[in-house]
Amino acid sequence: MAERISFSATINGQKIGPMDLPQDLMMVELLQEYLNLTGTRLSCGQGVCSACTIIIDDPDKGSYTVPACVTGVTWVNGRTVRTIEGIAGRDDQGNPVPSPIQMAFLEHFAFQCSYCTPGFVNGATALIERLQRQPIPSDQVEAAVLEALDRHICRCTGYVRYYEAVRDVILSTPGLTTDGPGTDVTAMQEAGQ
Ligand code: FES
Ligand code: FES
Repeated sequence: MAERISFSATINGQKIGPMDLPQDLMMVELLQEYLNLTGTRLSCGQGVCSACTIIIDDPDKGSYTVPACVTGVTWVNGRTVRTIEGIAGRDDQGNPVPSPIQMAFLEHFAFQCSYCTPGFVNGATALIERLQRQPIPSDQVEAAVLEALDRHICRCTGYVRYYEAVRDVILSTPGLTTDGPGTDVTAMQEAGQ
């Protein structure tokens, strides 16, 4: 019989636990079977396809992604997590408002069956948040998108519309590139950049 742990975490802004859990439980099982957060998809179950991607919010490193199918609750214990259910914003009435990435995927018709979509949304969201911390030149955006989403497998669409949607969000959002919208060109020239 598996050893058990006392598990606590913050998931989508809500304190969870303490819960008594098997210590070999994977995050995808916790989310789906204990917390009824079924948006995180299980596909390969081996850390290969990224369908189950969730976001860890680290106060020191910033946000980054992990595959929930091979990430144990023991490792997540005490951490802060976002799943696909925590990505949309809320309007004044509390209704969900799609994030810019979610909106771009809709506008670009980026998905078909959508099984891979929560993983793509979380992967792209973590990329956007990394660029908020560390903007890059716009001529490096294409490569950054490919690198960030390279491990996400989609069996339907051929990827192009996902990549185009993420690229468009990055290039049109102030602060994500060093030479894009909102860049203070004069300040950069004065700084010799
Ligand atoms: S289901 Fe987790 S990486 Fe494929
Ligand atoms: S849209 Fe069907 S697997 Fe990606």
